[in-house]
Amino acid sequence: CIANMYLYTAQAMREADQRAVALGYPSLVLMEAAGKQAASRLLQHFEGRSIAVLCGKGNNGGDGLVAARWLAHWGHPVRVYADEGHTGDAAIARQALQAHGLEIAPLSAWEPAPHSVLLDALFGTGLRGPLGGFYADLVEKVNQSGLPVVAVDLPSGLPYQPHIRADLTVALAGLKNEHLFYPHRAACGRIVLESIGMPPRALHNPHLPEVLCKTAMRPLLPTRPGNAHKGSVGRVLVAGGYRNYTGAPSLAALGAYRTGAGLVTVAYPADCAISPPPEAVRLPLLEWGHAELQAVRAEAVAVGMGAGAGGVKAALAALQLGKPTVLDADALHKQVLSAYAKAGLPTVLTPHPGEASRLLDIPSEQIARAPLEAAQALAERYPGLVVVLKGGPTVLAWQPPGAPTSSPLLAVNSTGNPHMASGGMGDVLSGVVAALLAAGLSAWEAARLGVYLHGLAGDLARKPGLLAHEVAEALPSAMKRLQL
Ligand code: ACO
Repeated sequence: CIANMYLYTAQAMREADQRAVALGYPSLVLMEAAGKQAASRLLQHFEGRSIAVLCGKGNNGGDGLVAARWLAHWGHPVRVYADEGHTGDAAIARQALQAHGLEIAPLSAWEPAPHSVLLDALFGTGLRGPLGGFYADLVEKVNQSGLPVVAVDLPSGLPYQPHIRADLTVALAGLKNEHLFYPHRAACGRIVLESIGMPPRALHNPHLPEVLCKTAMRPLLPTRPGNAHKGSVGRVLVAGGYRNYTGAPSLAALGAYRTGAGLVTVAYPADCAISPPPEAVRLPLLEWGHAELQAVRAEAVAVGMGAGAGGVKAALAALQLGKPTVLDADALHKQVLSAYAKAGLPTVLTPHPGEASRLLDIPSEQIARAPLEAAQALAERYPGLVVVLKGGPTVLAWQPPGAPTSSPLLAVNSTGNPHMASGGMGDVLSGVVAALLAAGLSAWEAARLGVYLHGLAGDLARKPGLLAHEVAEALPSAMKRLQL
């Protein structure tokens, strides 16, 4: 994790390169670092195979020429296939490679060799449209070879069709949209992010979405004083449950406790046979009313999990408490969000694409295709409320109150995995975020840290058939891991 991690577009990455050069940092030094990092990562994963390096004529090709030189220098069997016509830094990289006595064959001479690995340095972020003709054929030939492929920065051809399907992608300097969002992410295989020594001032760009990473999340973790007691570290009220929906509030309570809440009270309809963790206080209610909830001592509320038809009433009753709140599932209705936005309380809403679709009146497929745009639209519609749009990856947006003219802050999570796509995961997340709100974090901090921790717990517990309560049980290890 590189400090100040952002999600770059091709244009934003070009601007970062240009800022580095303007600061006096030579672009040749960047290319040297990029190529060397790609070479070491290839060896880390595929040592022992012969190596074919495929280089285009732009700077991505230049990175490949540098990588080939280092691989040869370290004594590995390398063949280089490259376009003609390199200019600038890439031309210097070509010269340096030739000085090492390596021959450069034309790309058309490449044939799949058994037990080899390919370094794909054909095209990176400079691609201006879909590949056709010779390059499209080459991409198909690479994909059909069945050989492992390591891509330099991006699998060539992305974000268009056809593109190379890589086993490993060495993302350079920063993550690009294609590294995190599907369907392009699937073409990247495993992704490793490598620094190329770019000055932090060149990489810094607060207008881009933040990528949630360890360096930025660690300082947000609440600390416990030696004399902590259950009333001082944050108490959570979970309000939910309806008829057969008995598991959701229990999982939220578990998520809150496992994130460090001192005391969790679960309020639920009396006719709903829920079984919260034994450590939780039960509050069965005949109806959702503010007076009943008022009696609970809590610094934050999570409302709506499994609340069914009672969701709106429960959320409006909880609003009267005036506490930081997480709105989930059946609390996610337009009238509820408008009331919370008007009240100006620290509030986090955690819709999945289906719920976001209902709130935005657009199809959920559109939301899944462009989740950052959807989260941004929700944040603009409900200024002050922090939006956590769940998915792979989960994205966040927040329009800070008092700054309606600037665009919302955006963030993308870097933790989590597809095994987390099962019932109850979102309920656990609501509890996690509520516990962090109760511990005194702002809504934007609690949402970002909560999403990151929840995904990290899912990564630590990763296995087929992963259950939500197993993710909750892995939260303490996730917090420990983050502290290290
Ligand atoms: N079909 C065929 N060819 C195409 C197409 C197309 N549809 N679209 C573009 N091209 C060709 C162009 O001819 C272009 O070559 P040209 O510059 O001679 O016109 C070439 O593709 C450009 O492709 P890229 O190598 O992907 O683009 P670029 O030269 O901008 O390099 C970079 C991309 C900088 C390596 C990028 O992947 C990146 O940001 N990496 C991380 C940072 C990094 O590695 N920096 C070190 C590099 S040095 C430096 O940046 C100055």
